[in-house]
Amino acid sequence: MSEGDRIIELRELLHRYNNLYYVQNAPVISDIEFDGLMHELMDLEARHPELYDPNSPTQRVGSDLSKGFRQAEHRYPMLSLDNTYSEQEVRDFFQRVSGLLNEPFEICCELKYDGLSISLIYEDGKLVQAVTRGDGVKGDIVTDNVRTIKSVPLVLQKGAWPRSFEIRGEVLMPWTSFEKLNAERERQEESLFANPRNAASGTLKLLNPQEVARRQLDSYLYYLLGEQLPFDGHYENMMEAARWGFKVSEHMKKCTTIGEVLDYIDYWDTERRNLPVATDGIVLKVNSLRQQRNLGFKAKSPRWAIAYKFQAERQVTRLNSVSFQVGRTGAVTPVANLDPVQLSGTVVKRATLHNADIIKGLDLHIGDMVYVEKGGEIIPKITGVDMDSRSLLMGDPVRFADVCPECGTRLIRYEGEAIYYCPNSISCPPQIKGRIEHFVGRRAMNIDGLGTETIDQFYQAGLIKDIADLYTLKAIDISRLEGLGEKSAVNIVRGIENSRNVPFERVLFAIGIRFVGETVAKILARAFKSMEALENATVEELTAVNEIGGKIAQSIVAFFRDERSRELVSRLKEYGLQMEVAGQEGQGGSDILAGKTIVISGVFNHHSRDEYKELIERHGGKNAGSISARTSFVLAGDNMGPAKREKAQELGVKLMSESEFLELINEKPTIISNELLLPF
Ligand code: IVH
Repeated sequence: MSEGDRIIELRELLHRYNNLYYVQNAPVISDIEFDGLMHELMDLEARHPELYDPNSPTQRVGSDLSKGFRQAEHRYPMLSLDNTYSEQEVRDFFQRVSGLLNEPFEICCELKYDGLSISLIYEDGKLVQAVTRGDGVKGDIVTDNVRTIKSVPLVLQKGAWPRSFEIRGEVLMPWTSFEKLNAERERQEESLFANPRNAASGTLKLLNPQEVARRQLDSYLYYLLGEQLPFDGHYENMMEAARWGFKVSEHMKKCTTIGEVLDYIDYWDTERRNLPVATDGIVLKVNSLRQQRNLGFKAKSPRWAIAYKFQAERQVTRLNSVSFQVGRTGAVTPVANLDPVQLSGTVVKRATLHNADIIKGLDLHIGDMVYVEKGGEIIPKITGVDMDSRSLLMGDPVRFADVCPECGTRLIRYEGEAIYYCPNSISCPPQIKGRIEHFVGRRAMNIDGLGTETIDQFYQAGLIKDIADLYTLKAIDISRLEGLGEKSAVNIVRGIENSRNVPFERVLFAIGIRFVGETVAKILARAFKSMEALENATVEELTAVNEIGGKIAQSIVAFFRDERSRELVSRLKEYGLQMEVAGQEGQGGSDILAGKTIVISGVFNHHSRDEYKELIERHGGKNAGSISARTSFVLAGDNMGPAKREKAQELGVKLMSESEFLELINEKPTIISNELLLPF
C-alpha cells in the first residue's frame, strides 16, 4: 500500500474510532492503540504536505495560529424560541397547534441544552464551516475551534446525507471539564466562569484553537436544515443524523398527548441533575416538517416550537451577617451568613458575595430576605433582595470592611480590580497559614499529614511562621502537640525531608508567587532553568517568553525585589530544595551551531518552537524567520507548510527532522516535554 493510501485508510479508521469513543461511548480500541495510529498518521502527513486535509483527525489538536474571526451570514436566520415557565402555557401551546393544524400531530420533546448555539455546514460529507449565532443574521466563523470538539464529525460516517446541508446544535462544556477549568483558574488566580455556558462561550471565542482543544468542549445537535432532508419527521431526521456521526440526544421523545408532554417535563425537571451537561429546560417541537411549514414563523420565533424553562433553583432566606475571609494572597472575600435553607439537596448556611461591587449593586442590608442560587451549581451565591419583605425597620447597610478582620491592616484595592487585599502578607495569620497550606499541597511539595488544622496548631504553638520553618521542625516538638503521636510526628518529618527532591518547577509553584500557577511555573522553569536566573530576570526578559504576560512578569519582579522573599528563597536553598532544573535540561550549551542560520517550521513533539529557538541560540546558532539563500537548514517539524517546503527545495536548503536535530545538539528527547506538548 502506498503512503498516500495508508494516509486515507488511517484517516477513515481514526474518524470511526473517534465517533465510537466520543459520540457512541463505545470504544473498540485502547487509548494507546489510538495514539499509535494518530502518530503514524501525523508522521505520514508530515512527509506528504501535498495531501493536507483540514478535516484530517490530526487537525483536532488545533494549530497555534491566532487570527481574528471573520463573519458569515446564516443561510437561514438563527431564530430563538418563545420561553415559558408555566405548565398552563405549555397546555395553551398544545391547544393552539391543535387548532391551527386541525389534524393529528406529534410533538417531539427534547432537552434544552444550556450552551451556545452553533451552525455547522457540511458539503459532500465534510465539515466546511462552523458559525456562532451572532446576531441571528450573521455570526463569527469559528471552524478551527469547532474542529477541536471531538464529538463534532469532521467527515461523516455511514449513510446517505444530502450533498449540502446545515445542522444546528449546542456547544457545551460538560460539568467535569467546567469544574476542572475553574479549579485551574482558581489556582492561577484568574477570574472564574460563573457557569458552563459562559465557559463554553468564552472558550469558543478564544483565538487559540490549541487552548480550545485543551478545554474539552462537547456538542449536541438538534436541528437539521436543507432542501433534501431524508424524512418528514424532525425526530427521524435526527436519528438519521446520529447514524451519519453526529451526537444527538438519546433523550428525545415523540408524544401525542399533552399528558405525555407534561410527564416528560416532570421527569426531566429532576432527572436532569444526573446529566453530564447543563440543561435549562425542555424544547417542544411539532415533529412533521410539513406541519412546521404550515404553522410558520412569527417575527423572531417559530410557531411550531416552544421552550419550557426550569425554575432556577432559588430560595429565599434571611441575611444575618456578613463576614470577611482572607485568603493566602490577601484577597478579602465577603461571605453572607444566612438562616439555613435547603437548596438542590444541600443545606446552605453561607453564600459568597464575591466583592464590594456586588454588595453595592445589591443594596444589601442586614436582616434582608435574600435570594440564594447555586452559581454554576457549585458555590451558592446571593442574586437579589426581596424588596417587598423589607420593613421600615430596615437593618444597617452592609459595608465592606476597611481593615483586615484578621490583622487590622487597612485594606487596599488595586487599580481596575474589584477585589480588596490585605497588604500585610508577612504577618497576617491566614495569609501565612494559607501560604504554608499551598506549599505542602499535593501538586506543590506534596507533604503528607499537614492539613489545615495541623498547620494551625504548628502556627499557634510558634513552631512555624513561614514555609522555610517547616525544614527546621523536629519530630519531638511535633509529638508534644495534642493529637499528634510519635508515629505521625516521624511521618511528617520524613515527608518534609523527602520534599527536598521535589523538582524545581514544583518548588517554583509552591513558593506562591502571585499569578505563578502550575502551568506558568513549568514554563518559567523551562525557560530560566534556575531560581537564580529568575531572581535576576527583568520584565522584558520575562515577557519575551511565550505565554508570559506583563501581569505575571511584574508580579515575579516585585516578588524578588522584596528583600524578605529573597531571604526566604535563600533559606529554602540552604535547606536543600531543588533550585534548578535537574539533569540535561539544566546544562549549558555548546558552539556546535556556530555560524549557522536556522529557520524553524512546523509542529514539534519534544519541545515547543520557542524552546527550539532557545536551544539554537544556546548552541551558538542564529534564528531566522524566513528561508533565504543564507539559511543553513530548516528545522522541520510536522505539518510544515507546502510553500516553505517548496522554497527550501528551490534554494537547495536542507530540511532537518526533529530527531536529527536533537541528535546534532546531543540531546535525548525528554518524556516531560513530550507530555507537555501532547496532552491528548
Ligand atoms: S431548536 C428555531 N432545540 O435554545 C428554533 N434549541 O431560545 C431552533 N437550545 O438558540 C432551536 N437546546 O441555542 C432547539 N433541543 C434544542 C435546544 C435549543 C438548546 C437553545 C438554542 C436556541 C435557544 C432557543
